[in-house]
Amino acid sequence: MRIAVVGGGGREHALAYKIRESKLCSELFCLPGNAGTFKIAKNENISAEDIEAVVRFTKNKKIDLVVVGPENPLALGLVDELEKVGIKAFGPKKEAAKIEASKSFAKYIFEKYDIATARYRTFDNYDDAKKYVEKEGAPIVVKADGLAAGKGVTVAQSIDEALRALVEIFIDKKFKDAGKRVVIEEFLKGEEASFLVFSDSKNILPMIAAQDHKPVFDNDEGPNTGGMGAYAKAPIVDKQMEEYIIENVMKKAIEGLKKEGIEYKGVLYAGLMIDENKNPYVLEFNCRFGDPETQAILPLMESDIVEVFMASIEGTLSNNLIKWKDAYAVSVVAASGGYPGSYEKGKVIYGLEELERLEDVYAFHAGTALKQGEVVTNGGRVLNIVGVDKDFKQAQKKAYDAIKLVNFEGMHYRKDIGNKAYKWLR
Ligand code: AMP
Ligand code: GLY
Repeated sequence: MRIAVVGGGGREHALAYKIRESKLCSELFCLPGNAGTFKIAKNENISAEDIEAVVRFTKNKKIDLVVVGPENPLALGLVDELEKVGIKAFGPKKEAAKIEASKSFAKYIFEKYDIATARYRTFDNYDDAKKYVEKEGAPIVVKADGLAAGKGVTVAQSIDEALRALVEIFIDKKFKDAGKRVVIEEFLKGEEASFLVFSDSKNILPMIAAQDHKPVFDNDEGPNTGGMGAYAKAPIVDKQMEEYIIENVMKKAIEGLKKEGIEYKGVLYAGLMIDENKNPYVLEFNCRFGDPETQAILPLMESDIVEVFMASIEGTLSNNLIKWKDAYAVSVVAASGGYPGSYEKGKVIYGLEELERLEDVYAFHAGTALKQGEVVTNGGRVLNIVGVDKDFKQAQKKAYDAIKLVNFEGMHYRKDIGNKAYKWLR
């Protein structure tokens, strides 16, 4: 099969690596890809969000399967457009992608189909939202309704901070149309986990649970980022909780959507807050693979991922399609100096060849590019260095030993990715 991956981050490099392993894949393209995918696929300089160009390219190249990484093209209807011209695509259609693209829609589904989530109200103007915040008090969480590249959520510790967020959204129009509406919700305490499933709209196939690390500094301090690292399998989600989440979150959502006339195919990702009594609440749904969770999850998948994609499209997902390695993966992000604030690009990355010689270590590129034959930085999150081992501590050590071999000017990374797992490991 001729396959194309849409996107160019760490998640897409991990997807490309896993697709490359498939017996079914004869040729692989990445749109636009990065310096990592360049080594295993043909990069095409087409933006993931240029729906017309993606459709034209995949049609011309007679692509058999398109795998969509990021949420924006899904929310813009890429899968719908590909289907119209007879190209198979893995991922939800526009209507289904609303589960991520509109937080108020997601909240409506949670409420209607009895999925545990934070108490909330939605608002479409500043004055009413302000009154509500003043009545509820802090801490409180303010969320722009639409897609805001992961920056639309403010966990406000004071009423002032919440009001500032509302001013930015409603008055300054920081998120443009994505901020026409806001969801204001109760602050939930606990530990977060990411739970992803494959869906064909009738059957679901769970992936192993993972945990992301959003704040930029150790001990979850500093501003939020796109994710500074992840690990899987996250032991906070034990067998019993996994079954609970499958029945009470994932199935309820997919069956609920079906009752609303929406078929959900692709990956459904639940961002969960697990409270001290081990009750999981849904913070958000995403309509795609997580980034950076995917970089930790896919190295542990033993099966042919292309078969899983095809089964999701054709409605034939079944449990025997996926096997997981009895091991852990810890993935640490190397970020550009200044990230998540402003940062420079174009710094030469040293040491990547040394990583290639290591066993059980993967280097998935995120923001990288090739410049005159050298790999240089090209984004805030630059590399995901992954260690895999049967023993969690060894997996973590492999990732950290490996990341010490690479460097670029300004590079920084968290030193504590995975530490939360020890509390739950026996
Ligand atoms: P989201 O984009 O909805 O996942 O929100 C981004 C981050 O904000 C989450 O990963 C949580 O750390 C935090 N967050 C979102 N909603 C809540 C909530 N209701 N209570 C506490 N933290 C939250
Ligand atoms: N890891 C967070 C996300 O993919 O949205």
